[in-house]
Amino acid sequence: MKLALPKNCITGIKKIDTQHQKLVDAINDLDKAIILNKNNHIVSGILEQMTQYVETHFLDEEEMLRRCQYPRLKEHQQCHSKFIKQIKLFQKMQKQGLPNIETQIFIFLKEWVFIHIKHTDMAYLTHIKLCSNSARVTTWKILTNDDS
Ligand SMILES: [Fe+2]
Repeated sequence: MKLALPKNCITGIKKIDTQHQKLVDAINDLDKAIILNKNNHIVSGILEQMTQYVETHFLDEEEMLRRCQYPRLKEHQQCHSKFIKQIKLFQKMQKQGLPNIETQIFIFLKEWVFIHIKHTDMAYLTHIKLCSNSARVTTWKILTNDDS
């Protein structure tokens, strides 16, 4: 079954929601590759692309939190770097051809991404909204540094 972002995982910040959706799409791609029994090379390509994308997304999100002086930024960054470490470890294991590793990765991703968004990401929303209101700019502008 194709995964989608549930309503309680929608931040209302366009760029963040788009990036989260792309992560979910990548998890769906991995699932599809597992179902179709794609070879190691294809799966590792999906994982590599996803890891790169996740790193970009985390940087964008952390930049937004930094600009808004989010008090729990450090804690949030630690969650992100823990995730990256785990994913890189999984990538290594997958390249070594560990049996059923793809399914384990899929289960981990599916759980982590939704729990992280629902609890850790949604927790910054009130702060971001206050920050964007006080600066009299939209959250979108804060995030993209677009003053136009
Ligand atoms: Fe996050």
